[in-house]
Amino acid sequence: MVFRQRGLPPLRVAFEEGVSLLELAKRAGVTGVLGRCGGYASCGTCHVYWADGPAEIWGEGRSGVEDDVLESAASVKSDKSRLACQVMLTPGLGTVIVDIAPRQ
Ligand code: FES
Repeated sequence: MVFRQRGLPPLRVAFEEGVSLLELAKRAGVTGVLGRCGGYASCGTCHVYWADGPAEIWGEGRSGVEDDVLESAASVKSDKSRLACQVMLTPGLGTVIVDIAPRQ
């Protein structure tokens, strides 16, 4: 798993199956992912862009609630936007690269 954050070198983190992308980012000390609601898909402060990895995680992996929260996120929503709290790391994901949204 690689986290890319503007102005910082990419941060490579060991994949941890069964945790959310938000949990992994917090454990790794990624500062740009805030997660203010604690992972309940209501604050939009864990917005990331799926830069590389399995396509099924992109837009079609979002729920309607997640889509609504991303509409009001501080950074522009794209077809590769996800809430890190709603992405569970499962076996077989392989190498994944996410860009942290510039504003949370
Ligand atoms: S932690 Fe609040 S929406 Fe993800």
